[in-house]
Amino acid sequence: MDIKKLGKYSRAPSFFFVVGSLTLLVCIATLSKFYSLRTFVISDTFCNFSNPVRDGSADKYMKQTLDTVIQKIKEEINNTRDLPDESSHGPRFSAFLVDILGMIELVQESLPHIDTSELQNGEPHAVHPLVRRKQNSDAAEYFLIEEIRKYVRIKPNRLRKQNFMGANGTFTSIGHSCFIMKKELEEYMDYDIGDICQDDWRLAQKLMVHGCDPLPRRRCLSRAPQLYTKPLPISESLWTLPDNRNVRWSQYLCKNFSCLANNVTRKGFFKCADCFNFTHHELPRWIIPEYQDPSSNLTADFLITEVLDLNPGEIRIGLDFSIGTGTFAARMREHNVTIVSASINLGAPFNEMIALRGLIPLYLTINQRLPFFDNTLDLIHTTRFLDGWIDFVLLDFVLYDWDRVLRPGGLLWIDSFFCLKEDLNDYLESFKMLRYKKHKWVTIPKIDKDDKEVFFSAVLEKPPRPF
Ligand SMILES: *[C@@H]1O[C@H](CO)[C@@H](O)[C@H](O)[C@H]1NC(C)=O
Ligand SMILES: *[C@@H]1O[C@H](CO)[C@@H](O)[C@H](O)[C@H]1NC(C)=O
Ligand SMILES: *[C@@H]1O[C@H](CO)[C@@H](O)[C@H](O)[C@H]1NC(C)=O
Ligand SMILES: *[C@@H]1O[C@H](CO)[C@@H](O)[C@H](O)[C@H]1NC(C)=O
Ligand SMILES: *[C@@H]1O[C@H](CO)[C@@H](O)[C@H](O)[C@H]1NC(C)=O
Ligand SMILES: *[C@@H]1O[C@H](CO)[C@@H](O)[C@H](O)[C@H]1NC(C)=O
Ligand SMILES: *[C@@H]1O[C@H](CO)[C@@H](O)[C@H](O)[C@H]1NC(C)=O
Ligand SMILES: *[C@@H]1O[C@H](CO)[C@@H](O)[C@H](O)[C@H]1NC(C)=O
Repeated sequence: MDIKKLGKYSRAPSFFFVVGSLTLLVCIATLSKFYSLRTFVISDTFCNFSNPVRDGSADKYMKQTLDTVIQKIKEEINNTRDLPDESSHGPRFSAFLVDILGMIELVQESLPHIDTSELQNGEPHAVHPLVRRKQNSDAAEYFLIEEIRKYVRIKPNRLRKQNFMGANGTFTSIGHSCFIMKKELEEYMDYDIGDICQDDWRLAQKLMVHGCDPLPRRRCLSRAPQLYTKPLPISESLWTLPDNRNVRWSQYLCKNFSCLANNVTRKGFFKCADCFNFTHHELPRWIIPEYQDPSSNLTADFLITEVLDLNPGEIRIGLDFSIGTGTFAARMREHNVTIVSASINLGAPFNEMIALRGLIPLYLTINQRLPFFDNTLDLIHTTRFLDGWIDFVLLDFVLYDWDRVLRPGGLLWIDSFFCLKEDLNDYLESFKMLRYKKHKWVTIPKIDKDDKEVFFSAVLEKPPRPF
């Protein structure tokens, strides 16, 4: 009699426990769903654990919590078994607990195995998420396509020694948005090793533009134009439309260069619809200023000679971060300045065009740190790229990165940046923040759009930093 009563009472708190553990389970399930992303996306608001364990050790904490929950459920199952089973609740309750136990253990299984001894001595020893697990890594596990898993995994050096660069392995990296664009990336990486790749550069570019950048490398043979003709000699190539056969046109509206150059078709990128017209649009750029309104002297254009004369003979190498066909680099070449043209293929084969002109295309999105070392370039020029669309914080990151690669005395040429009038001051603040010497600085109204927009151009010089 007494024992029965006791049994009844002892079961009461266990229901509270079950409710509690269910809540926890839901919490853990949510976490584990986002688990693969967690090292990339700060998500410590999902579950506000009472014990505030910071980012790196959160995994361990989760594991510890799971262990505790499992232990408690096991104890509870033991207790329930010990109860006299005349009550109908006993077996049902027990079965319920076993069920939950199975689910939690499944979640635990899907976690990377963490040495809990590390946990005890409390040292927050940072372990790379991709090496935590001996055979498999969680980021690799996230993808279903074997080629992605193989690519993402850290490749230890043979002989298990450091290589000449001082690294224990090779860390092939992918952009964090690759995890968000799982489906597209899996489509991109689904190929037969050694075979011809799909005609999917557009998918690749889409992935890159959306932050899956760097994109994994592939082990298939890229497609090439069917009949590639010899490029023109440099004396001709700079100002001649190349052979149409040297470009793969399948993903473009235009199927030849004359279509792109013709201002009737306008099938290229809208910001650069006439960039392929060498004879008219491109020829005078940076040689003759363009006036929006012929009746006034207002222009945001500076001439190459004006800019080079600021520091004669000092400008030898630089970067043009624009959308275009490389005309800036072509003109600078005439002044013996080597310019690398960063561009992506928005609606037209800009990279192929730049290369066929005999200039260097750099296929690069705005997402990445520039692949140049600090204090190396003499000049950075930009036009038609950073405009009124750009987020202020992003602009800051971009400008500081440009500052990093510019050498002291190097020039930053902002060419016809345009934005809404009301945004101008905020953008100008960003440019001023670099505290560069102002060689040129003009703001003029942009005439087309109801007078709501303005052009801004500047040539700025990075000061020496003697510290
Ligand atoms: C998390 O819990 C702490 C107290 O443990 C509290 O101060 C904090 O506001 C909570 N944060 C959120 C996002 O709930
Ligand atoms: C449950 O009971 C069995 C034997 O009755 C025992 O071996 C086991 O350690 C107990 N488990 C827990 C978690 O108490
Ligand atoms: C590289 O390996 C050595 C020896 O195996 C080890 O002592 C060192 O900590 C490792 N370095 C890194 C960065 O993992
Ligand atoms: C170029 O393409 C356009 C339409 O895309 C076509 O009308 C024209 O005939 C083509 N020109 C050449 C030279 O192939
Ligand atoms: C370039 O533009 C001019 C006028 O804007 C046009 O007459 C000429 O045909 C264009 N060039 C090509 C190759 O289409
Ligand atoms: C081509 O563009 C120029 C100016 O960019 C314009 O004057 C001319 O009328 C255009 N030609 C055609 C056929 O649209
Ligand atoms: C533009 O400038 C030139 C010389 O710099 C001058 O001769 C001309 O009158 C100016 N035109 C206008 C419309 O101001
Ligand atoms: C470029 O270099 C060549 C060869 O060194 C020289 O003949 C030419 O005058 C230079 N051009 C300019 C604009 O400096």
